[in-house]
Amino acid sequence: PSSITYPGNIILTGFMGTGKSVVGKRLAALLGRNFLDTDTIIEQGSGKSVAAIFSQEGEQCFRGYEKEVCRELSETRGFVIATGGGMLLDPENRKLLSRNGIIIRLDASIPTILHRTQRHQHRPLLNCEDSEQRIKSLLAGRSAAYASLPFHVDTTGMEPDETAHRALNIV
Ligand code: S3P
Repeated sequence: PSSITYPGNIILTGFMGTGKSVVGKRLAALLGRNFLDTDTIIEQGSGKSVAAIFSQEGEQCFRGYEKEVCRELSETRGFVIATGGGMLLDPENRKLLSRNGIIIRLDASIPTILHRTQRHQHRPLLNCEDSEQRIKSLLAGRSAAYASLPFHVDTTGMEPDETAHRALNIV
């Protein structure tokens, strides 16, 4: 379908630091759509930061909140949505969001991910001694789930605007 007339949601997913939120905002502006970020929805709903949810309630609880958000979003259309990087590892979540939307995975090289996530200390999964090693092992564990998503754009060395236009060409 054409991105101008496509009525469903346009969903950006992919690993931390691949540019989902920045590119999502650009894409939403280009299309005159509203932008949603699943981490922000969870933070507003719980009154806590993602990092606080991880440390106080644990990752499992956070994944439960993600599932609730997925159910709600599967009833909507017309948004540009950036997911948390782990949300669509769950096949049920992928199925829910595919009902009313097209899912596009953003990729980036490991040095790019490392560079982009170093400036932000709010990611509990990368808050460790050797974040490069952590990135590599998380990516290895997630590769099959990410590979199951047919549409993708490599953002390495790309400006957000260019990535947004490439994503537009997919829709
Ligand atoms: C996570 C990614 C984060 C956030 C949480 C877990 C993940 O979102 O949902 O820290 O499992 O990859 P971003 O990808 O927006 O950093």
